[in-house]
Amino acid sequence: MSTLTISGLHVAYGRTEAVRGIDLTVAEGQVVTLIGANGAGKTTILRTLSGLIRPRAGQILFDGRDVAGMAPHLIAGLGIVQVPEGRQVFADLTVGENLALGAWLVRDARATQQRHETILARFPRLRERLGQPAGALSGGEQQMLAMGRALMAAPRLLLLDEPSMGLAPLVVEEIFALIAELKAAGTTILLVEQNASAALEVADVAYVLEVGRITLSGPAAQVARNPAVVAAYLGG
Ligand SMILES: Nc1ncnc2c1ncn2[C@@H]1O[C@H](COP(=O)(O)OP(=O)(O)OP(=O)(O)O)[C@@H](O)[C@H]1O
Ligand SMILES: [Mg+2]
Repeated sequence: MSTLTISGLHVAYGRTEAVRGIDLTVAEGQVVTLIGANGAGKTTILRTLSGLIRPRAGQILFDGRDVAGMAPHLIAGLGIVQVPEGRQVFADLTVGENLALGAWLVRDARATQQRHETILARFPRLRERLGQPAGALSGGEQQMLAMGRALMAAPRLLLLDEPSMGLAPLVVEEIFALIAELKAAGTTILLVEQNASAALEVADVAYVLEVGRITLSGPAAQVARNPAVVAAYLGG
């Protein structure tokens, strides 16, 4: 079953057409990656899915309901949760407060408490730093916190915008190991990445975005072997 079906999506900033008619599908339990160069429109697509930008045209079906143009808090309430580019943790709030904010829409206090425990078990370094300001964490720890905060909302579709950006190679490995773990647990993920080789390895399906258009899509393993992809994104 498809969780997300985007069709004919156009997004513009004034006269800048950032997204020029894309179709993209994410099935339940899949990891789908969207790869593309700087300025291709990746973040614009994720922000549109979260309701932060209103599309100019197109349909965004989530569980059969068109969410295009819906308010961000309503979209979040349906279970589409974004981990933004550059982490965007609240630097002055503690790690614990950042995590708690992830569950602001969740009414079930018991479930929230359980999720909090599960997340701390998965991220021992966050547990050690629960009372410290998030701004004091390393980049990798902030990324873990941003992902933990999103998981507090029990997402039905997790949107990850360049989770490995700016991190040291060992930390990048940890981030991708976490994505693989979430996938194994059945989380549905749309992953935007510039680290194409790692993204293609963890993903089931891949889309290549160039200047607002999808130029190639298919099973990730197949996309990873495409000569044009190898030349442009895999350093071949
Ligand atoms: N707020 C904005 N106002 C005007 N133009 C914007 C705005 N945000 C993005 N753009 C433009 O829209 C296009 C797509 O940008 P977007 O941030 O979606 O790309 P991206 O694929 O996420 O790039 P990156 O890999 O650098 O994060 C670019 O041409 C960019 O300059
Ligand atoms: Mg971006």
